[in-house]
Amino acid sequence: MSGRWRRVTGDEAVTEDAPASVEVGGEWIGVFRVGGALYAMEDVCPHAFAKLSEGWVEGEEVECLLHAALFHIPTGKCLRGPANRDLKTYEVRVEDGFVCVRV
Ligand code: FES
Repeated sequence: MSGRWRRVTGDEAVTEDAPASVEVGGEWIGVFRVGGALYAMEDVCPHAFAKLSEGWVEGEEVECLLHAALFHIPTGKCLRGPANRDLKTYEVRVEDGFVCVRV
């Protein structure tokens, strides 16, 4: 996969209860921690403008807070409408205490 690794936030800033929302190159990316693992995906719901990092996280799924579209965090797959497409996901790693996303 191509792209540059970008430091986006501190590793400790992302918890199971509090995903992070970061802007990289004009794109909003949500960083989630699920079962100890980090995942990064598009943070703006494709249905209307709502940040998924502000939605309801349960296990590996996040529900949009506006109209309840459901997404699978590790894959970005749309599991329930009204959103009608999957989300872009990004490689993520921790380096020197920072979360890095490849964009
Ligand atoms: S904005 Fe996310 S379901 Fe409508």
